Amino acid sequence: MDAILAKKPLKWAELGFQYIKADFRYSAVFQKGNWLPGNLISEENLNIHEGAPSLHYAQQCFEGMKAQTTQDGRVVLFRPTLNSERMNRTASRLLMPEVPQDLFIKAVEEAVRANYAWIPPHGSGAALYVRPMLIGVGENLGLKPAQAFEFRVFVSPVGPYYKSSGLAAISLAVSEFDRAAPQGTGSYKAGANYAGGLLATLKAQELGASEALYLDSASHRFIDEAGSANIVILLKSGELITPSSNAILPSITRRSVLEIAAEQFGIKTEERAIDLRIEFDSFAEMSACGTAAVLSPVGRVYFDSEWHIVNGDGYSVGPVMQKLYDSLIQLQRGEVEDKFGWLHEVEI
Ligand SMILES: Cc1ncc(COP(=O)(O)O)c(C=O)c1O
Repeated sequence: MDAILAKKPLKWAELGFQYIKADFRYSAVFQKGNWLPGNLISEENLNIHEGAPSLHYAQQCFEGMKAQTTQDGRVVLFRPTLNSERMNRTASRLLMPEVPQDLFIKAVEEAVRANYAWIPPHGSGAALYVRPMLIGVGENLGLKPAQAFEFRVFVSPVGPYYKSSGLAAISLAVSEFDRAAPQGTGSYKAGANYAGGLLATLKAQELGASEALYLDSASHRFIDEAGSANIVILLKSGELITPSSNAILPSITRRSVLEIAAEQFGIKTEERAIDLRIEFDSFAEMSACGTAAVLSPVGRVYFDSEWHIVNGDGYSVGPVMQKLYDSLIQLQRGEVEDKFGWLHEVEI
Protein backbone atom coordinates (compact mmCIF):
# COMPACT_ATOMS: atom_id res chain seq x y z
CA MET A 1 0.00 0.00 0.00
CA ASP A 2 1.24 3.51 -0.83
CA ALA A 3 1.74 5.91 2.03
CA ILE A 4 -0.78 8.73 2.49
CA LEU A 5 1.65 11.61 2.75
CA ALA A 6 -0.40 14.33 4.52
CA LYS A 7 0.29 14.26 8.28
CA LYS A 8 -2.55 14.12 10.84
CA PRO A 9 -3.21 17.39 12.67
CA LEU A 10 -1.97 16.16 16.06
CA LYS A 11 -0.21 18.26 18.72
CA TRP A 12 2.85 16.02 18.42
CA ALA A 13 4.87 17.69 21.17
CA GLU A 14 2.03 17.21 23.68
CA LEU A 15 1.55 13.47 23.16
CA GLY A 16 1.89 11.13 26.15
CA PHE A 17 2.34 7.37 26.02
CA GLN A 18 -1.24 6.49 25.10
CA TYR A 19 -2.95 4.53 22.35
CA ILE A 20 -4.15 6.63 19.45
CA LYS A 21 -5.95 4.69 16.76
CA ALA A 22 -4.02 4.76 13.49
CA ASP A 23 -5.60 3.71 10.20
CA PHE A 24 -4.05 0.30 9.57
CA ARG A 25 -2.59 -2.74 11.28
CA TYR A 26 -0.98 -5.87 9.82
CA SER A 27 -2.36 -9.30 10.55
CA ALA A 28 -1.19 -12.82 9.68
CA VAL A 29 -2.63 -16.12 10.89
CA PHE A 30 -0.83 -19.40 11.63
CA GLN A 31 -2.97 -22.48 11.01
CA LYS A 32 -2.31 -26.18 10.54
CA GLY A 33 1.42 -25.68 10.83
CA ASN A 34 1.75 -22.80 8.32
CA TRP A 35 1.69 -19.04 8.16
CA LEU A 36 -1.08 -17.90 5.80
CA PRO A 37 -0.42 -14.76 3.73
CA GLY A 38 -0.88 -11.67 5.90
CA ASN A 39 -2.34 -8.28 5.02
CA LEU A 40 -3.19 -4.80 6.24
CA ILE A 41 -6.57 -4.37 7.88
CA SER A 42 -8.37 -1.37 9.33
CA GLU A 43 -10.34 -3.06 12.16
CA GLU A 44 -8.59 -2.57 15.50
CA ASN A 45 -10.77 -5.04 17.43
CA LEU A 46 -9.87 -8.71 17.47
CA ASN A 47 -12.61 -11.27 17.03
CA ILE A 48 -11.34 -13.98 19.34
CA HIS A 49 -12.89 -17.20 20.69
CA GLU A 50 -13.86 -17.12 24.37
CA GLY A 51 -11.81 -20.28 24.93
CA ALA A 52 -8.60 -18.89 23.41
CA PRO A 53 -5.41 -19.83 25.36
CA SER A 54 -4.10 -16.27 25.11
CA LEU A 55 -7.04 -15.12 27.23
CA HIS A 56 -6.95 -17.88 29.85
CA TYR A 57 -3.39 -19.11 30.07
CA ALA A 58 -1.53 -16.04 28.75
CA GLN A 59 -0.15 -17.86 25.73
CA GLN A 60 0.84 -14.61 24.10
CA CYS A 61 3.85 -12.36 23.73
CA PHE A 62 4.69 -8.98 22.28
CA GLU A 63 7.44 -6.59 21.28
CA GLY A 64 7.88 -2.82 21.35
CA MET A 65 9.90 -0.59 19.04
CA LYS A 66 9.78 2.89 17.53
CA ALA A 67 9.80 4.38 14.04
CA GLN A 68 11.21 7.90 13.81
CA THR A 69 11.45 10.58 11.15
CA THR A 70 15.04 11.63 10.45
CA GLN A 71 16.19 15.18 9.81
CA ASP A 72 16.17 14.53 6.04
CA GLY A 73 12.66 13.03 6.13
CA ARG A 74 13.46 9.32 6.05
CA VAL A 75 11.57 6.91 8.30
CA VAL A 76 13.77 4.61 10.35
CA LEU A 77 13.43 1.71 12.80
CA PHE A 78 16.06 0.97 15.43
CA ARG A 79 17.60 -2.53 15.30
CA PRO A 80 14.31 -4.29 14.42
CA THR A 81 15.96 -7.67 13.79
CA LEU A 82 16.77 -7.79 17.52
CA ASN A 83 13.05 -7.44 18.28
CA SER A 84 12.35 -10.24 15.81
CA GLU A 85 14.92 -12.50 17.48
CA ARG A 86 13.57 -11.68 20.94
CA MET A 87 9.97 -12.38 19.89
CA ASN A 88 11.00 -15.76 18.54
CA ARG A 89 12.90 -16.58 21.71
CA THR A 90 9.75 -15.81 23.70
CA ALA A 91 7.54 -17.70 21.24
CA SER A 92 9.66 -20.84 21.64
CA ARG A 93 9.53 -20.59 25.44
CA LEU A 94 5.72 -20.41 25.29
CA LEU A 95 5.31 -23.16 22.66
CA MET A 96 4.17 -20.74 19.99
CA PRO A 97 5.36 -20.81 16.36
CA GLU A 98 8.24 -18.53 15.48
CA VAL A 99 7.39 -15.61 13.23
CA PRO A 100 9.87 -15.84 10.32
CA GLN A 101 12.11 -12.76 10.34
CA ASP A 102 11.09 -11.71 6.83
CA LEU A 103 7.41 -11.83 7.84
CA PHE A 104 8.16 -9.86 11.02
CA ILE A 105 10.07 -7.13 9.18
CA LYS A 106 7.56 -6.98 6.30
CA ALA A 107 4.65 -6.65 8.76
CA VAL A 108 6.39 -3.87 10.70
CA GLU A 109 7.38 -2.02 7.52
CA GLU A 110 3.88 -2.28 6.05
CA ALA A 111 2.21 -1.10 9.26
CA VAL A 112 4.60 1.86 9.48
CA ARG A 113 4.34 2.78 5.79
CA ALA A 114 0.52 2.55 5.69
CA ASN A 115 0.32 4.83 8.74
CA TYR A 116 2.82 7.40 7.47
CA ALA A 117 0.33 10.16 8.32
CA TRP A 118 0.66 9.19 11.99
CA ILE A 119 4.47 9.21 12.20
CA PRO A 120 5.51 12.25 14.25
CA PRO A 121 7.71 14.73 12.38
CA HIS A 122 11.40 15.13 13.14
CA GLY A 123 12.09 17.43 16.08
CA SER A 124 8.68 16.92 17.73
CA GLY A 125 10.10 14.67 20.46
CA ALA A 126 7.42 12.08 19.61
CA ALA A 127 7.75 8.78 17.70
CA LEU A 128 5.56 6.08 16.19
CA TYR A 129 5.43 3.22 18.68
CA VAL A 130 5.21 -0.17 16.96
CA ARG A 131 3.66 -3.09 18.83
CA PRO A 132 4.07 -6.56 17.28
CA MET A 133 2.08 -9.22 19.13
CA LEU A 134 1.59 -12.97 18.85
CA ILE A 135 -1.44 -14.61 20.46
CA GLY A 136 -2.89 -18.09 20.75
CA VAL A 137 -6.41 -18.02 19.26
CA GLY A 138 -9.15 -20.60 18.73
CA GLU A 139 -10.98 -22.79 21.22
CA ASN A 140 -8.79 -24.68 23.66
CA LEU A 141 -10.21 -25.29 27.10
CA GLY A 142 -7.62 -27.72 28.43
CA LEU A 143 -4.19 -26.47 29.42
CA LYS A 144 -2.36 -27.16 26.19
CA PRO A 145 -0.89 -24.99 23.43
CA ALA A 146 -3.21 -23.24 20.97
CA GLN A 147 -3.71 -24.74 17.53
CA ALA A 148 -3.91 -21.36 15.78
CA PHE A 149 -2.14 -18.04 16.29
CA GLU A 150 -2.46 -14.47 15.10
CA PHE A 151 0.55 -12.23 14.57
CA ARG A 152 -0.47 -8.61 14.53
CA VAL A 153 1.43 -5.33 14.31
CA PHE A 154 -0.29 -2.12 15.30
CA VAL A 155 1.14 1.36 15.76
CA SER A 156 0.39 4.50 17.73
CA PRO A 157 2.10 7.89 17.85
CA VAL A 158 3.53 8.43 21.35
CA GLY A 159 5.34 11.01 23.42
CA PRO A 160 7.52 10.41 26.50
CA TYR A 161 6.72 7.39 28.70
CA TYR A 162 7.26 9.07 32.04
CA LYS A 163 5.21 12.15 32.84
CA SER A 164 8.30 14.20 33.53
CA SER A 165 8.88 15.05 29.87
CA GLY A 166 12.32 15.55 28.37
CA LEU A 167 15.32 14.37 30.30
CA ALA A 168 14.18 14.96 33.90
CA ALA A 169 14.93 12.58 36.76
CA ILE A 170 12.36 9.95 37.71
CA SER A 171 12.11 8.04 40.99
CA LEU A 172 11.77 4.30 41.65
CA ALA A 173 10.37 2.42 44.63
CA VAL A 174 11.62 -1.07 45.45
CA SER A 175 8.68 -3.43 45.18
CA GLU A 176 7.55 -5.77 47.93
CA PHE A 177 6.46 -8.12 45.13
CA ASP A 178 8.66 -10.27 42.90
CA ARG A 179 8.46 -9.77 39.16
CA ALA A 180 9.83 -13.13 38.04
CA ALA A 181 11.11 -16.39 39.45
CA PRO A 182 14.81 -17.24 38.98
CA GLN A 183 14.07 -19.94 36.37
CA GLY A 184 10.76 -18.41 35.26
CA THR A 185 9.79 -16.26 32.31
CA GLY A 186 11.34 -12.94 33.40
CA SER A 187 13.74 -12.77 30.47
CA TYR A 188 10.95 -13.20 27.92
CA LYS A 189 8.56 -10.53 26.70
CA ALA A 190 5.48 -12.46 27.79
CA GLY A 191 2.35 -10.58 28.82
CA ALA A 192 2.10 -12.91 31.83
CA ASN A 193 5.05 -11.07 33.39
CA TYR A 194 3.24 -7.77 33.31
CA ALA A 195 -0.18 -8.51 34.84
CA GLY A 196 1.42 -9.25 38.20
CA GLY A 197 3.36 -6.00 37.96
CA LEU A 198 0.29 -3.76 37.78
CA LEU A 199 -0.18 -3.79 41.55
CA ALA A 200 3.54 -3.24 42.10
CA THR A 201 3.40 -0.15 39.85
CA LEU A 202 0.32 1.14 41.67
CA LYS A 203 2.03 0.73 45.05
CA ALA A 204 5.14 2.49 43.75
CA GLN A 205 3.03 5.35 42.43
CA GLU A 206 1.25 5.64 45.78
CA LEU A 207 4.66 6.34 47.29
CA GLY A 208 5.16 9.09 44.70
CA ALA A 209 7.52 7.03 42.51
CA SER A 210 7.32 6.84 38.73
CA GLU A 211 7.70 3.08 38.64
CA ALA A 212 8.50 -0.07 40.65
CA LEU A 213 12.05 -1.38 40.97
CA TYR A 214 12.40 -5.14 41.38
CA LEU A 215 15.14 -6.92 43.29
CA ASP A 216 16.03 -10.52 42.53
CA SER A 217 13.37 -12.82 43.89
CA ALA A 218 15.78 -15.33 45.45
CA SER A 219 17.59 -13.02 47.90
CA HIS A 220 15.94 -9.58 47.48
CA ARG A 221 19.40 -8.03 47.47
CA PHE A 222 20.37 -7.58 43.84
CA ILE A 223 18.83 -5.11 41.38
CA ASP A 224 16.84 -6.80 38.63
CA GLU A 225 14.98 -4.13 36.65
CA ALA A 226 12.15 -1.60 36.68
CA GLY A 227 8.59 -2.43 35.60
CA SER A 228 9.20 -1.63 31.95
CA ALA A 229 12.88 -0.79 31.71
CA ASN A 230 16.35 -2.13 32.53
CA ILE A 231 18.77 -0.31 34.85
CA VAL A 232 22.22 1.12 34.13
CA ILE A 233 24.40 2.68 36.83
CA LEU A 234 27.47 4.86 36.59
CA LEU A 235 29.73 4.23 39.57
CA LYS A 236 31.75 7.01 41.19
CA SER A 237 34.79 5.08 39.89
CA GLY A 238 33.63 5.94 36.34
CA GLU A 239 32.53 2.44 35.37
CA LEU A 240 29.09 1.82 33.86
CA ILE A 241 27.45 -1.29 35.31
CA THR A 242 24.18 -3.10 34.69
CA PRO A 243 22.60 -6.10 36.44
CA SER A 244 23.37 -9.58 35.20
CA SER A 245 20.25 -11.61 35.90
CA ASN A 246 18.41 -14.37 34.10
CA ALA A 247 15.10 -12.88 35.24
CA ILE A 248 15.23 -9.56 33.36
CA LEU A 249 14.26 -8.69 29.81
CA PRO A 250 17.36 -8.36 27.62
CA SER A 251 16.79 -4.72 26.65
CA ILE A 252 17.84 -3.61 23.17
CA THR A 253 18.23 -0.06 24.47
CA ARG A 254 20.52 -1.21 27.28
CA ARG A 255 22.67 -3.19 24.88
CA SER A 256 22.93 -0.12 22.64
CA VAL A 257 23.72 2.29 25.50
CA LEU A 258 26.51 -0.01 26.72
CA GLU A 259 27.94 -0.24 23.21
CA ILE A 260 27.83 3.55 22.79
CA ALA A 261 29.44 4.07 26.20
CA ALA A 262 32.27 1.67 25.47
CA GLU A 263 32.94 2.46 21.82
CA GLN A 264 32.16 6.16 21.62
CA PHE A 265 33.26 7.33 25.05
CA GLY A 266 35.75 4.65 26.14
CA ILE A 267 33.75 3.97 29.32
CA LYS A 268 34.45 0.64 31.01
CA THR A 269 31.22 -1.38 31.19
CA GLU A 270 30.32 -4.49 33.12
CA GLU A 271 27.27 -6.71 33.51
CA ARG A 272 27.28 -8.07 37.05
CA ALA A 273 25.16 -8.61 40.14
CA ILE A 274 24.54 -5.27 41.92
CA ASP A 275 23.72 -5.36 45.63
CA LEU A 276 21.42 -2.35 46.10
CA ARG A 277 21.98 -1.68 49.81
CA ILE A 278 25.71 -2.38 49.88
CA GLU A 279 26.56 -0.48 46.68
CA PHE A 280 24.08 2.40 46.65
CA ASP A 281 26.55 4.95 48.05
CA SER A 282 28.97 4.23 45.22
CA PHE A 283 26.41 5.19 42.56
CA ALA A 284 27.21 8.44 40.75
CA GLU A 285 24.33 8.28 38.25
CA MET A 286 21.52 5.80 37.64
CA SER A 287 19.07 5.43 34.73
CA ALA A 288 16.18 3.32 33.57
CA CYS A 289 16.43 2.40 29.89
CA GLY A 290 14.09 0.98 27.29
CA THR A 291 12.31 1.73 24.03
CA ALA A 292 9.62 3.70 25.86
CA ALA A 293 11.79 5.09 28.68
CA VAL A 294 14.74 5.83 26.33
CA LEU A 295 17.31 6.69 29.03
CA SER A 296 15.54 8.19 32.04
CA PRO A 297 17.80 9.33 34.89
CA VAL A 298 16.77 8.04 38.31
CA GLY A 299 17.14 10.68 41.04
CA ARG A 300 15.70 8.84 44.03
CA VAL A 301 15.10 5.24 45.08
CA TYR A 302 12.73 4.17 47.86
CA PHE A 303 13.84 1.16 49.90
CA ASP A 304 13.88 0.07 53.56
CA SER A 305 11.05 2.54 54.30
CA GLU A 306 12.83 5.69 53.13
CA TRP A 307 13.89 7.65 50.09
CA HIS A 308 17.55 7.54 49.10
CA ILE A 309 19.03 10.20 46.85
CA VAL A 310 21.28 9.04 44.02
CA ASN A 311 24.37 11.18 44.52
CA GLY A 312 23.32 14.73 43.38
CA ASP A 313 20.15 16.57 44.41
CA GLY A 314 17.70 13.85 43.36
CA TYR A 315 16.33 15.88 40.46
CA SER A 316 19.15 16.87 38.10
CA VAL A 317 20.51 14.86 35.23
CA GLY A 318 24.12 13.71 35.56
CA PRO A 319 26.64 14.59 32.83
CA VAL A 320 27.39 11.04 31.69
CA MET A 321 23.74 9.97 31.36
CA GLN A 322 23.10 13.25 29.54
CA LYS A 323 25.76 12.53 26.94
CA LEU A 324 24.70 8.89 26.55
CA TYR A 325 21.08 10.02 26.10
CA ASP A 326 22.09 12.66 23.55
CA SER A 327 24.17 10.14 21.59
CA LEU A 328 21.41 7.53 21.62
CA ILE A 329 18.60 9.81 20.46
CA GLN A 330 20.77 11.54 17.86
CA LEU A 331 21.55 8.13 16.44
CA GLN A 332 17.93 6.95 16.58
CA ARG A 333 16.72 10.14 14.88
CA GLY A 334 19.35 9.98 12.17
CA GLU A 335 20.99 13.24 13.31
CA VAL A 336 24.47 11.73 13.33
CA GLU A 337 26.20 9.18 11.14
CA ASP A 338 24.87 5.67 11.79
CA LYS A 339 28.33 4.26 12.39
CA PHE A 340 27.04 1.15 14.17
CA GLY A 341 24.65 0.34 11.28
CA TRP A 342 21.64 0.21 13.62
CA LEU A 343 19.05 2.08 11.56
CA HIS A 344 16.66 0.24 9.26
CA GLU A 345 15.02 2.52 6.72
CA VAL A 346 11.39 1.97 5.76
CA GLU A 347 10.85 2.94 2.11
CA ILE A 348 7.85 5.22 1.90
C1 LIG B 1 10.35 -5.38 31.61
C2 LIG B 1 11.07 -4.62 30.57
N1 LIG B 1 12.40 -4.44 30.71
C3 LIG B 1 13.12 -3.76 29.82
C4 LIG B 1 12.54 -3.21 28.69
C5 LIG B 1 13.39 -2.48 27.70
O1 LIG B 1 13.64 -3.24 26.56
P1 LIG B 1 13.95 -2.53 25.17
O2 LIG B 1 15.11 -1.63 25.37
O3 LIG B 1 14.27 -3.65 24.24
O4 LIG B 1 12.72 -1.79 24.80
C6 LIG B 1 11.17 -3.40 28.47
C7 LIG B 1 10.48 -2.88 27.28
O5 LIG B 1 10.58 -1.81 26.83
C8 LIG B 1 10.42 -4.10 29.43
O6 LIG B 1 9.10 -4.28 29.28
